[in-house]
Amino acid sequence: MSEATRRWWSGRVGYEVYLRSFADGNGDGVGDLLGLAERLEYLAWLGVDLLWITPCFPSPLADHGYDVADYRRVAEEYGGDAALARVLDEAHARDMRVLLDLVPNHTSSEHPWFRASRSSRSDPKRDWYLWRDSAPDGGPPNNWVSHFGGPAWTYDEATGQWWCHLFLPEQPDLNWANPEVAEAFEGLIADWLDRGVDGFRIDVAHALVKHPDLPDLPPAASPAEAAPGDLLSVFDRFEHVYDTNRPGVLEVYRRWRAVAEPRDGLLLGEVYLTDVATLAPYVVDQDGLHLAFWFAPLDVAWEASAVREVLAAGAGIAEGAVAWITSSHDVSRAATRLGGPHRALVLATLQHGLPGVPFLYQGEELGLADVVVDPSQAEDPIAVRAGAYHRSRDVCRTPLPWEPGPGLGFTSAERPWLPMGPRGEADTVAVQRDDPGSWLQRYRALVALRKAEPDLVDAPLAWIDDVADGVVAYRRGTLLVAANLGASGATVDVPGAVEVAFASDGGTVLEGRALALPSDAAAVVRLGP
Ligand code: GLC
Ligand code: CA
Repeated sequence: MSEATRRWWSGRVGYEVYLRSFADGNGDGVGDLLGLAERLEYLAWLGVDLLWITPCFPSPLADHGYDVADYRRVAEEYGGDAALARVLDEAHARDMRVLLDLVPNHTSSEHPWFRASRSSRSDPKRDWYLWRDSAPDGGPPNNWVSHFGGPAWTYDEATGQWWCHLFLPEQPDLNWANPEVAEAFEGLIADWLDRGVDGFRIDVAHALVKHPDLPDLPPAASPAEAAPGDLLSVFDRFEHVYDTNRPGVLEVYRRWRAVAEPRDGLLLGEVYLTDVATLAPYVVDQDGLHLAFWFAPLDVAWEASAVREVLAAGAGIAEGAVAWITSSHDVSRAATRLGGPHRALVLATLQHGLPGVPFLYQGEELGLADVVVDPSQAEDPIAVRAGAYHRSRDVCRTPLPWEPGPGLGFTSAERPWLPMGPRGEADTVAVQRDDPGSWLQRYRALVALRKAEPDLVDAPLAWIDDVADGVVAYRRGTLLVAANLGASGATVDVPGAVEVAFASDGGTVLEGRALALPSDAAAVVRLGP
């Protein structure tokens, strides 16, 4: 890695704090910043040092905080501004950095900007959002649909126009063609960085700018099979050429970069584009985003060549420019999705050896699987509003189990906001911390290795082609990372092997100069000079 691309985040390990379910500090059943402050000791022990905190701003919670009603304050429910200041201070004292979650594509319909915009056609804020007249047939202005099902338009009786929303009607899309909107966000970014925040995870970063004429979307070239009645899959029946990934969005980030750079702030985009050629422009030129999540590994089949292909594609985008994840608050947990915690750790091991910034999602380090949430307790609008219970994101958002006892240490309230589910004592942080063979201890060892070995950050990446079926392997300087995704054991020849520096199954050893990898295991081997 060159001097130019090495920054303060190079070599750090990220961790997504899904705030509402991390730790409840005041006993109301909802995670908050006081709870987070009290658990920073744990995160420091785990070794992660780049925290992304999901939205902590005042919100009517139509989409659990991704509907922001005030970008300048921390919600009282999470402890208010003082609690964030405490988290920042205490995190910084432990050499951890903190990213807030910035939601610039849309606001809450309760944001004063939208209230003003909606109040009349002549309001100065009218043009801050995307308002249009009815189509000639009296219906919505175009054929766009919401990610959460149904049309991307809602009619406002009072002013006789429709507002555009790529998500819920309560999440009206901002008009990024309006320079006042751009200025408002540049101001927000500067202010939060000046308040001690270290950067931002940018929500839906590919969608801010729309085609100025808002034309109808063409049908998808190869639409995915839609389950009958699955409202959400309608989104995939279109080619999203006018509502997302418009070239103008790169100019937005160029300007943000100019604001962030003098303040040393990190811009990490949720750029949900799983094609290398379309994602690359967001991060390649050293003038837009610093990092973008690479989401392709979330959909990969458990098959060596497929896994290698998506990892190599991400690693090839630009030097150290992607952030790696196996799980998040938006998808089924890797342990469930891939078929067991062994596999989740194999994928995490492969990611921790690659250039870029690996992230863990809270609970991943405990080997946690999804929790099936009864429809009567559902929270996610995808379930509650669109009726797509089979796609509900509640499964990965249930509270973190901290220790044996009532509320598993997450809360002292009688009921957490989402059920704990069937988590047991063995799932808790406290029990796993004391068990040398636990998932938690293995993840901790992996994070420690990543942070101790500059070669995993800096050395050139070389894929190894001559391996047994089912094996994925690459070299980074003095280290070799190998994983066996096959159904039976495999041997990986490692000339120059000195020792196993990390083993996902806790037991893999060298047999002479060969690594005997059981099925669904990964290891990092140190090579001699
Ligand atoms: C992002 C968030 C998701 C949210 C959506 C709308 O994808 O990760 O949780 O629902 O944006 O803001
Ligand atoms: Ca609370």
